[in-house]
Amino acid sequence: MNSLPNNSVPHLLHQLNGLSISEFLKLLIVHYPGQVTFSSSFSYEDQVISHEILSNKLPVKIFTLDTGRMFAETYSTWNSTNEQYNTKIKAYYPEQAPLQKLVEERGPNSFYESIQNRKDCCFIRKVEPLKSALAGNAIWITGLRAEHSPDRHDLPIIEWDESNKIIKYHPILHWTTEEVKLYINQNHVPYNPLHDKGFVSIGCQPCTRATRPGEDFRAGRWWWEDADKKECGLHVHEPNATATDEYEEAKI
Ligand code: ADX
Ligand code: SF4
Repeated sequence: MNSLPNNSVPHLLHQLNGLSISEFLKLLIVHYPGQVTFSSSFSYEDQVISHEILSNKLPVKIFTLDTGRMFAETYSTWNSTNEQYNTKIKAYYPEQAPLQKLVEERGPNSFYESIQNRKDCCFIRKVEPLKSALAGNAIWITGLRAEHSPDRHDLPIIEWDESNKIIKYHPILHWTTEEVKLYINQNHVPYNPLHDKGFVSIGCQPCTRATRPGEDFRAGRWWWEDADKKECGLHVHEPNATATDEYEEAKI
């Protein structure tokens, strides 16, 4: 993992002023050649950013963390994105040994049984693979939006991620849902059909449900847990904050 100083953040924030997303991405690519990467879960938000990258043919590496438990519709969206933009989005996978141990010892759906089980599953299927995906990069682009949760309201558009030692950039942090939908429609961007069926924030299939009118954006994620526990560990500010030691080691 690189060890960029986080004092680059104010400098980048200053340069961001007045630039479009693609203009700023081009600037990042010049500053950090070969070290700019984008994580996509194929949500509405991520598809906007993929379109910016792929339609402008920008050398930003796009990857997804394939947990093995995603919706069929999400895999279809991945496929149609590859086809429409003539690209091959890179996939990162969980390590086989800790995943096998988790599933054999606790069962395939242990995430419903305790918060710790759920966090261990997220750690093995998402957090560990994320580390491999980010290794060697300086900039990590995400589709986080402030509207999605109170935790995300006060995020800066560019921030230093101490746990991953990387600069994060959230290009559409302050876009509204309407702006996202308009962009998707106007630019004929392929999107996850679950968004038309009441799914707002889409993660793994067993841990995501549609939301009802009036529910908040993340009500459909890990709906059996208290709102303040709903963090999968991808976007945290403390290193390895969530998994039990056994799985934190992940070298079983
Ligand atoms: S999570 O922390 O609750 O899982 P969320 O689904 O809101 O995250 O997505 C926020 C951002 O995290 C996405 O825009 C994307 O950049 C990244 N992300 C989430 N899940 C994945 C995934 N499976 N693969 C790649 N990136 C992901
Ligand atoms: Fe496992 Fe659910 Fe987390 Fe996906 S969201 S990694 S299935 S606990």
